Amino acid sequence: MSYCVRVMTQDDIPAVSKLDRQIFPDMQMPTNFENELKNCMAHYLVAFEFDLPESKNSCEGSIIGYAGLWVMVSEAHIVNIAVDSNYRRCGLGELLLIALIELALDMNCNMMTLEARSSNITAQRLYQKYGFTSRGIRKGYYNDNREDGIIMTVDNINSKTFKDEYKKLKGDYQKKRGAAEIILTAPF
Ligand SMILES: CC(C)(COP(=O)(O)OP(=O)(O)OC[C@H]1O[C@@H](n2cnc3c(N)ncnc32)[C@H](O)[C@@H]1OP(=O)(O)O)[C@@H](O)C(=O)NCCC(=O)NCCS
Repeated sequence: MSYCVRVMTQDDIPAVSKLDRQIFPDMQMPTNFENELKNCMAHYLVAFEFDLPESKNSCEGSIIGYAGLWVMVSEAHIVNIAVDSNYRRCGLGELLLIALIELALDMNCNMMTLEARSSNITAQRLYQKYGFTSRGIRKGYYNDNREDGIIMTVDNINSKTFKDEYKKLKGDYQKKRGAAEIILTAPF
């Protein structure tokens, strides 16, 4: 299975909103993607499946994942990474994280940070794989069940240490998962 990741557009909003509700059925305030796309700090990506080589570059079809980043000066805050439950454990979450790191590097960010639910070990493992470490706890951060948020951070994505490890992880990803397309320029 190969994937394509590209910048989210207005036309993607109905499909992404539907996917968001499926993945986070308990969220009291679903993400308002209309507002997010108008926010110049926010950058959203969507993911598709494609079969090589016929539909390479098409990056269309059913949206099976999305990710969001807020960029404030040199700090990139990961808002979310979410993958359709039918496509988990196939490398898509990792590809979306790689795409967010590429985006943060393109935008000259240094620090990347996020909050993950304390119970969400899956997400924590994904971020740990890419060098994010726990830096503290936001007590009762999540409104729905007052669950704590674990703050996870990479201090400097421009450091040689991070870049060397990141390059290795991307190489390993490609060897294990094959080709994937990441298009970070807006398709209009
Ligand atoms: C977290 C999430 C995005 C991971 O996506 P995914 O496509 O299933 O993950 P991948 O297959 O790309 O796995 C990448 C890494 O994540 C970690 N991981 C993924 N699933 C895991 C699991 N069930 N248990 C432990 N680690 C797991 C591993 O480190 C894995 O690397 P590996 O393949 O070398 O073991 C997905 O589970 C999801 O959408 N969850 C619901 C939404 C959510 O909680 N988002 C995070 C908000 S902060």
